Amino acid sequence: MKTAIIVSGGDAPGISAAIDSFTRLALQSGDQVLGAQGGFSGLLDNQLAEMDQSLVSLLAGRGGSILQSSRDPALEQPGARQLLGDVLRRREIDNLLLFGGDGTIRHLAPRLADWGASCIVLPATIDNDVAGTDYTLGHDSACNFALAAVDGIRATAHALPGRIFLLETLGAPSGHLALAIAYASGAHLALLPEYPLELNWLARRLRETVAREGYALVVCSEAYPDLSRLVDEIPRLTGIRVRFTTLGHAQRGADVSHRDRRVAREMSRVAWRAFKRGAANGVVIVRDGALALHDGILPSRTKAPPDRKLYEFVNQL
Ligand code: F6P
Repeated sequence: MKTAIIVSGGDAPGISAAIDSFTRLALQSGDQVLGAQGGFSGLLDNQLAEMDQSLVSLLAGRGGSILQSSRDPALEQPGARQLLGDVLRRREIDNLLLFGGDGTIRHLAPRLADWGASCIVLPATIDNDVAGTDYTLGHDSACNFALAAVDGIRATAHALPGRIFLLETLGAPSGHLALAIAYASGAHLALLPEYPLELNWLARRLRETVAREGYALVVCSEAYPDLSRLVDEIPRLTGIRVRFTTLGHAQRGADVSHRDRRVAREMSRVAWRAFKRGAANGVVIVRDGALALHDGILPSRTKAPPDRKLYEFVNQL
């Protein structure tokens, strides 16, 4: 059996660990594994090389992905189906192991299935916004990265009181990542794009929080509407200094947590077994704490908004 591994869209901590694990399972059974550099553009361009087990193992604990990804709409270009078929035939590839987030799962996996390419997807995105799975690889590591930032902010907030701290996380277009961080960190407020807050209400709440606790910590999603205006308006409305921290892409390249390393290895084992028993298309999902293969493609829908009750609890609404 020969499998080609492709990473599509935003990378996520844990992808390299999953590649390491899958490669080892395959090589130990005498099978072959190729890695595509540059996502689907690279695959169609035959940018494929045998995976080097010792190198992958060395880098398994790093964030990002040992195989480069791409956001190019390579499968939409005219002749893509033909190009894909040619590469798979020429390189004698039996199946594809694909890492990707919401866009990849909703748009690319169904196309590959339509074209008759055997493909199993491992949902990987820090955003945890894929409908049909409770968890996506990389989310835990990105949360931990943010929690370390919160701890740092709290230390300085305590030492020099009288300020409002806004911590911006990645995760657009959804607020799932920001809510997970806000809840676990005990932030005073979470600002999510799904539930915009009235500005004067927000200012009042922040003033009360600073008066009571000496500082206010707000975790906001990068997708919260008009965030930069908010950063200007809050000091004007509250008379309190605002300090803004953005985690940016450092969060996506976070160190890989224990949970993500474990999930990475379990996901690749599920995919490996599925290929071995002849599954053609599927997605490895997490439901109620257990990993399983969803046979076929997932229904194309956006994930439900972040848990309203949890949001209300965090924001004490
Ligand atoms: O992969 C998901 C994600 O990291 C989002 O959290 C973020 O909004 C986006 O990708 C950033 O994309 P890019 O790397 O293209 O700037």
